[in-house]
Amino acid sequence: MTLRSSGTAHEAFTALGVPAVDRQHRVIAERWRLLARAGAEGDGARVRTNLWFLRAYFAEHFATEEAIMAEAGYPGLPRHARLHADLLVRLEALQVAHTAGTDPWGRGEFACLLDWVRTHIDEQDALMGRFLQAQQRIAASRGAGTG
Ligand SMILES: [Fe+2]
Ligand SMILES: [Fe+2]
Repeated sequence: MTLRSSGTAHEAFTALGVPAVDRQHRVIAERWRLLARAGAEGDGARVRTNLWFLRAYFAEHFATEEAIMAEAGYPGLPRHARLHADLLVRLEALQVAHTAGTDPWGRGEFACLLDWVRTHIDEQDALMGRFLQAQQRIAASRGAGTG
């Protein structure tokens, strides 16, 4: 079951067993918690700081995942990368809205986006994680067979 969030409750994201990716997901969850708190308190400066951090960090995180998928020959990479690009566009739209002085927080867009991120991790990132783990098991059994 996919956990749904109000945008203010911040359960950690599901761990995938891919250490580099899980570490980055923890940074994202923590930063989203700070963003949510700033939004709830109406602190525009802290919303800006955390939103700008997240936009940059997501770009780095997606590059990490896409490099791992490319290296592993993951067949779902093109679709997965398109979803990443969509999220970056949506984050940029929030940056524009924030800069323009409209209130994306009040319209629930952050909570909606957090649901998107959680669903992406639970579905797309989890598929990637299972593929990588299966690949590791195959490599380990080949190693055992030849050793
Ligand atoms: Fe991810
Ligand atoms: Fe992803």
